[in-house]
Amino acid sequence: MYRSRFNVDLNKYSLDYTSSTTDDAAIILYDIIGSQAHVLMLYKNNIIPKNDSIKILIALEELKKLKIKNNLKYDDVHELIESMIINKLGIKCGGKMHTGRSRNDQISLDLRLKLREDVNMLCFYLIDLIDVLILLANKNKRTIMPLYTHLQQAQIGLFSHYLLSYADSLLRDFDRLYASYDRINECPLGSGPIGGTSMPIDRKFIMKKLKFKKLISNSIDATSTRDFVVEYLSLTSILMTNISRMAEDFIIWSTSEFSFIELADEFTSTSSIMPQKKNCDVLEIARGKTSCVIGNNICVLTILKSLPSGYNRDLQEIKKPLWSSSEISIQTIFIFKMILKSLIIKKSRMRSISSEGYLTSLDIAEALVKKKIAFRTAHKIVGKLVQIAYELNKPLSKLTVNEIKNSVEHDNHCTPELLIKIINSVTLESSLSNRMSYGSSGFYEQEKMIDERLKKIKSYKLKINKRRNEIKDAITNFSAEIKKTINRV
Ligand code: ARG
Repeated sequence: MYRSRFNVDLNKYSLDYTSSTTDDAAIILYDIIGSQAHVLMLYKNNIIPKNDSIKILIALEELKKLKIKNNLKYDDVHELIESMIINKLGIKCGGKMHTGRSRNDQISLDLRLKLREDVNMLCFYLIDLIDVLILLANKNKRTIMPLYTHLQQAQIGLFSHYLLSYADSLLRDFDRLYASYDRINECPLGSGPIGGTSMPIDRKFIMKKLKFKKLISNSIDATSTRDFVVEYLSLTSILMTNISRMAEDFIIWSTSEFSFIELADEFTSTSSIMPQKKNCDVLEIARGKTSCVIGNNICVLTILKSLPSGYNRDLQEIKKPLWSSSEISIQTIFIFKMILKSLIIKKSRMRSISSEGYLTSLDIAEALVKKKIAFRTAHKIVGKLVQIAYELNKPLSKLTVNEIKNSVEHDNHCTPELLIKIINSVTLESSLSNRMSYGSSGFYEQEKMIDERLKKIKSYKLKINKRRNEIKDAITNFSAEIKKTINRV
């Protein structure tokens, strides 16, 4: 339709190769709404006659109800819809729809309309997941488990503390996504192909109708920038990377060797040949899909890198990775919430593994420090103590005065008797009662941390619901206005 200059159609293979109509299925509705806002603006500013405007608005409204099939005969959804309007109304009327507009500002608008809903949906489900993490933490503030560094046992901890650490990471993900919204929610329409138009259009009118926060003022910027897409893809990459770490912990902790947790049967798979298997496929897929999301981010960055200014068709290729990352992130968050809600937590196993190792070593060393022994000396004493216990294959609590004699040689004040007394006074519970530092695994700290986060989550829920409703209402009100305008005639 656009080939006014040529006498031949685009080569069939070139059209198949370049058409984006398949990917555009996700933005058809936004394209129609954007066109209605544009036509309404043209009409209100006397750029096209009322009669034609109403006919176009009606035809666009009808298109909303139609199941438009992907049509490779066209370059993209913009050409497809304009052709349908012209086919229906004739070129004299339908041919006026694209006045003062280019596909370059149009696609930027469609992307922003879709993405602002996606980011809201992502935030909405994310806060639900964080809520579940905090509620689960609340139920597990006495569930003792080993904490790991280098995947080796490090300190006695609490399952609640672990869960809250991910709640906090995800809250930061939420904050980042929530803040990115303002950079998405800017209106590019009315920028023309790159340098604007001589038609007396009213950019602010469209901005207000579609509830954008502001205009993107520079028309070159508005038509060619996709930094808001890269920002979203980077943020979903960080989010998914956080989730993938939790997925990995859960996979490890579900093994027979750890057996700290078990996934509900409905979230696990089995084997075609080994009947005993219970595999964490869902979590493995989440781990795998994280790589796809990171790949999508790199893909779009690479498309944008060194792209000359103004619109280039390369930009069309960002849609697939964008849709993909949105879908993956939203699905993963949703499924993770269900996994957490049905998670089987093996508290006694966590506890028995916690008491088997030498996880109270630091607590013993710190008890020595409280007896005025230098920390480095205490470190040497307890290190020796652990080695003795390891060689005798005994827990620290079973060592005798005689066996530990050698461990105290570094310090004159520390007698084997004192050391035994300290060892016996340190238990899993005492370790966690004495852990007073801010943000630690201590029992008291857990109570505080959970309370703070439960309060915080309420305001987060309110603000994301408000934002989602604002957009929903704006689109509903706009559709109602269109219907009213149509019916008035
Ligand atoms: N299909 C294009 C895209 O998705 C729309 C813009 C096309 N503009 C152009 N001048 N060919 O990016």
